[in-house]
Amino acid sequence: DFSFKVDSVLALMTLEEKLGQLNLPAAGDITTGQAESSNIAEKIKQGKVGGLFNLKSAVKIREVQRIAVEESRLKIPLLFGMDVIHGYETLFPIPLGLSSSWDMELIEKSARIAAIEASADGINWTFSPMVDVSRDPRWGRVSEGNGEDPYLGAQIAKAMIKGYQGDDLTLENTIMACVKHFALYGAPEAGRDYNSVDMSRQRMFNEYFLPYKAAIETGVGTVMTSFNDIDGIPASGNKWLMTDLLREQWGFNGFVVTDYTAINEMIDHGMGNLQEVSAMSLNAGVDMDMVGEGFLSTLEKSLEEGKVTQNQIDEAVGRILTAKFKLGLFDDPYKYADPERSKRDVFNAEHRKVAREIASQTFVLLKNEGGILPIKRESRIALIGPMADNKENMAGTWSVAGKFEEAISLREGLENAIGDKAKIVYARGSNITADSLLESRVSIFGKPTYRDNRSEEIMIKEALAAAKNADVIIAAMGESAEMSGEASSRSDIEIPENQRKLMEALLKTGKPVIMVLFTGRPLAIKWESENVPAILNVWFAGSEAGDAIADVLYGDVNPSGKLTATFPQNVGQVPIFYNHKNTGRPLPEGEWFQKFRSNYLDVSNEPLYPFGYGLSYTSFEYGDIKLSAKELEGEQILTASIDLKNSGKFDGAEVVQLYVRDLVGSITRPVKELKGFQKVYLKAGESKTVGFELTQEDLKFYNYDIDFVFEPGEFEIMVGGNSRDVKSAKVNWK
Ligand code: IFM
Repeated sequence: DFSFKVDSVLALMTLEEKLGQLNLPAAGDITTGQAESSNIAEKIKQGKVGGLFNLKSAVKIREVQRIAVEESRLKIPLLFGMDVIHGYETLFPIPLGLSSSWDMELIEKSARIAAIEASADGINWTFSPMVDVSRDPRWGRVSEGNGEDPYLGAQIAKAMIKGYQGDDLTLENTIMACVKHFALYGAPEAGRDYNSVDMSRQRMFNEYFLPYKAAIETGVGTVMTSFNDIDGIPASGNKWLMTDLLREQWGFNGFVVTDYTAINEMIDHGMGNLQEVSAMSLNAGVDMDMVGEGFLSTLEKSLEEGKVTQNQIDEAVGRILTAKFKLGLFDDPYKYADPERSKRDVFNAEHRKVAREIASQTFVLLKNEGGILPIKRESRIALIGPMADNKENMAGTWSVAGKFEEAISLREGLENAIGDKAKIVYARGSNITADSLLESRVSIFGKPTYRDNRSEEIMIKEALAAAKNADVIIAAMGESAEMSGEASSRSDIEIPENQRKLMEALLKTGKPVIMVLFTGRPLAIKWESENVPAILNVWFAGSEAGDAIADVLYGDVNPSGKLTATFPQNVGQVPIFYNHKNTGRPLPEGEWFQKFRSNYLDVSNEPLYPFGYGLSYTSFEYGDIKLSAKELEGEQILTASIDLKNSGKFDGAEVVQLYVRDLVGSITRPVKELKGFQKVYLKAGESKTVGFELTQEDLKFYNYDIDFVFEPGEFEIMVGGNSRDVKSAKVNWK
């Protein structure tokens, strides 16, 4: 409890210094850091800055901290935040990829390494994890989340926060996490970034809130508001969200920071002028204003006019000071910026090795007709496609500190694996897209993606020549890294037409073609799934991408990733998700069309690849589900078990998934909900009984009145290797 210390600092502060603590400017140029030379230094001296973000390097951060603790009147240390999203310099797969590992230990480890590296460089606060559930692959930021499921999202939120914050936030190598974006940022209308969110309270509580709540329960230090409005009130001014729910119901006691200029954006939302929206935001329960300086420039006037109270300002300042005390910054403001540790810990060989291991666990084998994969080491390879020799695009979207130029490309990874460059013939074959307008919009930090200006025909010809003597063609295709991420919504989620043409030409050679698919979102790849014999989805796998992909292509690692977001057949099916409601006119299973049923004329209701789906080089056989009881009462525990056999020729891991359906409820209930999962490693030929325990607590949901209740009755319990192919049994729970 730091309240005594916080109060004694507060007692010394002027109003201006208090408002300064609520102010979070950006550090200037995010890659080079210009804070020292901008007017930010002056503001720091005047006590008008509470923290800075996205400034990189231990030396620069030490210098800026020195200004705060030596040249400002009260010598209050600064927070240094950064978007450390999927690693610091050592980059891990994008979050959607990480989630596909279903491996909480590895996910925690990735966040731990990110914290070790970032803290060595002076960062003590990360704007991660992003836990926004999303069912809309048009939305570019699906890449930064954990997919469509709230239960899985909650487990990942916990793992990430434990990785960043550890058990002891005062340690020099743990950093404060920030769960974002509160709330419902992943559900914008039409998948268009920043768009409105309007949904029922039942849906919020049952289908979207769980990961945020889990983050609060895990002790996350801070929460970031979202840009969108909810029920007609922008999140950054939404008192119901920031105070009633977050603090009063969920007991959050850290501080709330807005997203970038989110307070100012409330002017465009139509909530009033800067003074009005700033007061609205403080009144809602927001503590820190990112970049917009509305708090700094208007709250004094609002205080004089009685629109906000001194107590509200003091509470917000108190929460920020508490965070600084928790991090130990008042004891040693320089503890996080250690150039020696930075040299030793950042982007070191050990971290890169772990990044490679983790990356290989995130790939999802979507198709492997005739067991083309794994490739034999002696095979001659034609490596074709715009993602094959493309370093900058390996690591994926949104990293401030990452070394994109040092990522391992697929070409390098294959060459490293074979050790004989002559066995690989490379041709680019096509650009990422022929749409130059789109391409100009998806540059990486201002750097345009490399473009080959020769004609499509010539490039395809060159690809076919490269394929001539090959035993197998590896086609590295998909989206570039910035085609997903913030403000990268797409209304067309297919592979660009020019890449399709290249693929058609490659298939015509009659040689086996393996598609290595790069993407930050579920794509509508129906044509590819019908025509290409093997597809390995590798997302954007981080610094070690190329080596990790080669590990899987050559079978040194057997793929075990499973999708955490449904792949649709076409964009018109969106939103399509496994945990939907049944409707009053469901389509009988296995059917496509029936008049006056809930379906489409032109596409079936089935996804292309369902949630939880992913193949392995081996095969797994599921026995029948066994329940410990058919009837249960009250606090009893139900065990559901299943015999799992690795019936193939490779050792491998399977993510066994447990789903539940509440067959009768006081409100309509989803046809399936994930309630458990285990990643099980089995040697070829080995079997194991996999068991799950369920209690009434696991079957509770938010009813019409938003009370969290268990309703007795019949439940269907399902276990399987994806959300579609399950074994099921019923239980009556009184
Ligand atoms: O953390 C991010 C957020 O996710 C999107 N807007 C900018 C913030 C800070 O860089």
